[in-house]
Amino acid sequence: MTPSTGTSESNVNFPRRLDLSQTPTPLQIMPRLTAFVGGPKIWFKRDDLTGSALAGNKIRKLEFSLAQALDLQAKVIITAGGIQSNHCRATAFACAQLGLKCHLILRGGPGDTAADGNLLLDHLAGAEITFVPHEQYSTSRPEILAGIQNDYESMGLTSYWIPVGASNAIGSFGYIRAFDEMMAQIVQDNLNIRHVVTAVGSGGTLAGLIAGRACTSHATPPKLWGVNVCNDAPFFEEEIRGILHELKESYKVPVNAQTEEVNIIDGYVGEGYAIPYAAEMETIRQVGQVEGQVLDPVYTGKAFHALIEECKAGRFTPDEDVVFIHTGGIYGLFPARDQLGF
Ligand SMILES: Cc1ncc(COP(=O)(O)O)c(C=O)c1O
Repeated sequence: MTPSTGTSESNVNFPRRLDLSQTPTPLQIMPRLTAFVGGPKIWFKRDDLTGSALAGNKIRKLEFSLAQALDLQAKVIITAGGIQSNHCRATAFACAQLGLKCHLILRGGPGDTAADGNLLLDHLAGAEITFVPHEQYSTSRPEILAGIQNDYESMGLTSYWIPVGASNAIGSFGYIRAFDEMMAQIVQDNLNIRHVVTAVGSGGTLAGLIAGRACTSHATPPKLWGVNVCNDAPFFEEEIRGILHELKESYKVPVNAQTEEVNIIDGYVGEGYAIPYAAEMETIRQVGQVEGQVLDPVYTGKAFHALIEECKAGRFTPDEDVVFIHTGGIYGLFPARDQLGF
């Protein structure tokens, strides 16, 4: 776990980072999907390849959050999410690798606590889990968290809280760094990428990309788009501006929280978070069959479905290459096997 800083493409002073992920991840053309959609050229930034147990976008954020936790002498990491949270699974495995205790507060149960997908892996990584039924999670999570923190304090153990999705300023440094990494690949291969699309679940990934774009030395960086998989566009615009503000205030990242463009493509949530719909599942099947890539039903399935629909609608034109950030999430497919209809 060699500590290191971020890359140096931008004028950002990165905080300390742990080296837990397999980066840089490849930036790959998807020729068959491009032909299938009928242009523009579609590229995948393969953040689904950041590790196996650590796979996805979360580990990029955790490299910064967990470095801070270690600097604060934390012995226990507490975080929260849905029962199939990719973030919680990545946190559980990163903690195991660092010799830290991990305590997860998971929204769900009773009834949906069968060890499958990410939850199976949480158990495997030895995480302590507090299951909180949906209603209680939305009304009483702060009190539940405070109770858990007090218990560890009374045992003499320093705990460190990572918010849902590690979507705060320290976590979003992971995607400032990822933006730099992607720009270096674009420049090296002389690519003409005009758009970058990512799923938005708690906002930290898009916030980091926006901050990275604001700080890049590149003259014509691509435009950034987020597809929300829950809530709505105004909700995420506020969340993301909040993270940008914190980046500036607490870490002196030169980004203007008021004036940066926050582009959210709304309309692809369906009935709600983690509720897949038929057209999305069809997209997941097509991407598997046409290009041999695996999307997930909660994040990348909805976001990539949006990308295809927005190509048809003319938001992304055939002459403007698009990068889709493949943020991982594969383990969420398994508990959704019934909706895939196999
Ligand atoms: C696979 C996957 N993709 C995308 C996202 C969205 O990222 P963010 O929470 O930073 O908006 C998440 C987590 O929420 C995720 O697990």
